Amino acid sequence: MPRKVNYGTGYGYDDDDYYNYDDDDYYNYEDDGHDYAEETVVVSKAKVKQDTPKLGVWRCPICTFDNEDSMSACDICGVLRNPLVKGSRDSSTKVGTSRDSEASKLAKSLFASLLQQNPKKAVTFEGKSDVFKSEEPFKFDTPSLDDMVSSGVHSSRVGSKATSNKILQSNASSGKDEMMTGAKTELIAGGSSIPIAKFGPNEIKQSASSQNSSKQGLRKSMKNLSVSSKSQSTEKGSIHDDVEDKLSQLNLAVVGHVDSGKSTLSGRLLHMLGHISKKDMHKNEKEAKQLGKGSFAYAWALDESAEERERGITMNVAVAFFNTKNYRVVLLDSPGHRDFVPNMISGATQADAAILVVDASMGAFEAGIDASGGQTREHALLIKSFGVDQIIVAVNKMDSVQYSKERFDAIKKQLGTFLRTCKFKDSSIVWIPISAMENQNLFTGPSDAQFLSWFQGSSLVDAIDSLQPLVRDYSKPLLMPICDIVKSQSQGHVSVCGKLETGSLETGFKVLVMPTREIATVRSLERNLEVCRSAKAGDNVTVNLQGIDGHRVMAGGVLCDIDYHVPVTNHLELKVLTLDISTPVLVGSQLEFHVHHAKVAAKVVKLLSLLDPKTGKETKKSPRCLLSKQNAVIEVCLQLPVCVDEYANCRSLGRVSFRALGRTIALGLVTKVLEQM
Ligand code: GTP
Ligand code: MG
Repeated sequence: MPRKVNYGTGYGYDDDDYYNYDDDDYYNYEDDGHDYAEETVVVSKAKVKQDTPKLGVWRCPICTFDNEDSMSACDICGVLRNPLVKGSRDSSTKVGTSRDSEASKLAKSLFASLLQQNPKKAVTFEGKSDVFKSEEPFKFDTPSLDDMVSSGVHSSRVGSKATSNKILQSNASSGKDEMMTGAKTELIAGGSSIPIAKFGPNEIKQSASSQNSSKQGLRKSMKNLSVSSKSQSTEKGSIHDDVEDKLSQLNLAVVGHVDSGKSTLSGRLLHMLGHISKKDMHKNEKEAKQLGKGSFAYAWALDESAEERERGITMNVAVAFFNTKNYRVVLLDSPGHRDFVPNMISGATQADAAILVVDASMGAFEAGIDASGGQTREHALLIKSFGVDQIIVAVNKMDSVQYSKERFDAIKKQLGTFLRTCKFKDSSIVWIPISAMENQNLFTGPSDAQFLSWFQGSSLVDAIDSLQPLVRDYSKPLLMPICDIVKSQSQGHVSVCGKLETGSLETGFKVLVMPTREIATVRSLERNLEVCRSAKAGDNVTVNLQGIDGHRVMAGGVLCDIDYHVPVTNHLELKVLTLDISTPVLVGSQLEFHVHHAKVAAKVVKLLSLLDPKTGKETKKSPRCLLSKQNAVIEVCLQLPVCVDEYANCRSLGRVSFRALGRTIALGLVTKVLEQM
């Protein structure tokens, strides 16, 4: 089951070419009308038709679940409808292996007398790795009004979230029943209990002082730094050699406008891969239906809290894990509602690649791409600013437009133009039409005749597998921004979650916890919910620490090598790019500052210069204000000190974003870490 993360906040930012001044149309938001209809999808594996006729239902005599007539075994408890029927499986569609045979054995032995007739039709994922367990898609038992979406009718909720009342961010954590309950501390300025506020940036824990004080001033630039031969990190260089698994790690953010179907898609993927039990699925379906939200059954696998379910929106990023042929995927299902963009930022800042989900329904795509309030735009910009280059655009809800090629092409053209202005390369964008609800083109090619008549490209999972693996910095010192913490009162230790940006970790290692400068020992490690001995850059881990007071660890902090601690300050010089803003940025403007998983209030203290967007050269000193789409150098003072570094030294700690009035207003790179004010 997915882990829910109540992110502090955070932002990441772009990569090298983000401030590519040579590029003419960088952040040119005007559509240029160019047809970017190049086909980037790759035709690969043979497609297998899914044949699931809907001929009524039969009630399971054991659990009373109403199964489709085509099912020969109960979808919930596995009881066979008629085990005596031989060769009942359709030749073009094969039943899954282990799961099905287990169910068959159980059913044959226990319930033979209750069996009836009729063959089973099931899907197979031919040509796929066996990580994809063949399994019938989950079916709702009886159609409710809301379930009509599964029959190709528009979602009853289109537009509902976008127009819902603004939800205070402070409510975001209330009523959650995440797995990661307990002490979740946020680096949010103005919060009532902000542990970071209690710690002076130079404070060193007594017990660690002898070891750590000698390291003061030892901090070296992360840039061009590789671990020295005597440090703990040297040993780490060999750790990844004995990491058994061959799969590459892929942190995959699922982003997009509210209601586009991100959680439904994520839930469907998890279900098809066997990560959601039939029992849980049935429970979700039943409870969703009771709330009049039957179509949310898949989304509920990710939206676990009562508040999320009641509102029908994702509020916190859900983290789920599954494997594909090439990747160990960490799926980060982000909230699309604009009130939860800070959470989306904190989750997606860990992303190596992203699935941008857009809703193909008439009007819904247009709402998402709308310049004033569309999260499709904001998420795409943010994702690019986090350094994500590879993006899969999943054009979802194709069922609601009768799998129209014209609609898909129109969306591709319009969104493609915008993505280009965000500096995504055409060759790094893969366009995949899908229907998460109808399970079209997720694992295998389309089965719908109309869809199949014009689309023979990759399925979504093929597209994930075709992403280029990322190059990681294993040789650099450890750096892990902390996105979440869990304290165990009884056992007196604390666990921190996050992605290792650089370096590696092993059980027994000593680490420096910033900004409190405490030293702790790694008691144990979990990667993708499994205990492991070591982890390396790119891995998404939970690190159980011992020898540290839980109050001295916080989300928004950083775990680092004891020899190379990250800077902590509240005073920065930055290069920024303003987005479409209606209110100019002035000296004294109060903004929200996001960096990795930290969020603090910031005040603009100086507007140093305006820069030419093409050359990067200074065009004006001390401008009076910043308007839309301007490049500038500014100085900000933060309400609280945070772990931050110059972008040239460390990308993940040097990418920032600014928000105001619920919107992202500027993206930036830290150019100087200044003396604390
Ligand atoms: P937020 O996380 O709140 O931004 O929403 P989301 O993008 O996760 O969307 P969610 O998965 O909660 O789905 C929203 C609505 O769209 C639900 O009613 C789903 O049933 C419906 N939906 C999702 N996928 C499809 C699809 O492929 N076709 C149709 N017709 N409806 C879909
Ligand atoms: Mg969602």
